[in-house]
Amino acid sequence: MYKSKITYLKKLELFKELDDHQEGKFFAIIDQKVKNHLPQWIQFSPHVLWLKNPEEEKNLDTYKRAVDFFISQGVQRDSVIYAFGGGATTDLAGFIASTLMRGIDWVAVPTTLLAMVDASLGGKVGVNLEAGKNLIGAFHAPSSVLVCTDFLNSLSEKEILSGKGELLKYGFLSREIFELIQKKAPLEDIILESAKFKTRVVEHDFKEKGERIFLNLGHTLGHAFEPTLKMPHGLAVAMGMKYLFRLMNQTHILETWNLLAKSLALPLEKLEIANYDNFDMKTFLSYLENDKKKVKSSIRLVLVKDIGACYIEEVSMKDFIQKIQTSHEFRY
Ligand SMILES: NC(=O)c1ccc[n+]([C@@H]2O[C@H](COP(=O)([O-])OP(=O)(O)OC[C@H]3O[C@@H](n4cnc5c(N)ncnc54)[C@H](O)[C@@H]3O)[C@@H](O)[C@H]2O)c1
Repeated sequence: MYKSKITYLKKLELFKELDDHQEGKFFAIIDQKVKNHLPQWIQFSPHVLWLKNPEEEKNLDTYKRAVDFFISQGVQRDSVIYAFGGGATTDLAGFIASTLMRGIDWVAVPTTLLAMVDASLGGKVGVNLEAGKNLIGAFHAPSSVLVCTDFLNSLSEKEILSGKGELLKYGFLSREIFELIQKKAPLEDIILESAKFKTRVVEHDFKEKGERIFLNLGHTLGHAFEPTLKMPHGLAVAMGMKYLFRLMNQTHILETWNLLAKSLALPLEKLEIANYDNFDMKTFLSYLENDKKKVKSSIRLVLVKDIGACYIEEVSMKDFIQKIQTSHEFRY
């Protein structure tokens, strides 16, 4: 069963909460880029494993290095590991926590927009292999998620846009979020509602046997756009939704997509194949075929009937690929 407590707090409140752990051993895995946000005692703590390039270090080598490090630092069955960073850091830290001493508690402190609304929530943790992303993993929910949007002050525009791509997805999944985005509510309010929404879904369906699959909206094509066009995850998801709606001739849903994308100030030109001169259909299709969510020779597409009403359509992979190859949307 999934149970994670989410708390929203300002930086000073977060520090106050962390300060309570100053006397004991504060085990943590932290993205180096957020070091300056943290209190001095954490910056100089001997129990912290720092990551320079989290996505590159989200692998089994770092896993082994981290496990050896925490054991040498005296980690015990009732210890807690804190993870400060984006999704790459929280995925890695959660995976370490899931197996260290057969599973210990961990606390996520997401520092990117994408991690605040998606990656740090839901308990899917893991590492990448050379053969592909997230190929080894577990379901291990953080006991607590501490969301402090002050970390976003140092986040690059590119990473903010990546998180906004995922917010666009939530705009289709929930009427409340749709309305917040449409009226250009403060980002904090949209983050809060999106995190609450994902938590509710995961509480009902931790192991993705039912409604959790709707959270994959946009990901089938998005997972192929991301490496082909070397674009950030969330933007690729937004683009994945747009091209799926086009392929399936969902004109009215496309209009809603445009409305949401404009309200979120997404860069529309970056979400069009025609504006890339390096789009390679062969590469794109090879990523699509390797998507691990493929069930045998068919693919389960998440489609939208209306805001808050998604459904699944299972189509043959062969037909889907043929549809893409003959679609004028993928020609430029
Ligand atoms: N577990 C899940 O359910 C889930 C869901 C979606 C994505 N993911 C995973 O999450 C990862 C993507 O997450 P992400 O976009 O957060 O990537 P990330 O963790 O790589 O962070 C993106 C960049 O932002 C930097 N950064 C982090 N916080 C910062 C801050 N406050 N200020 C300045 N720079 C900062 C990082 O160093 C990195 O360069 C992928 O590995 C993906 O597989 C997991």
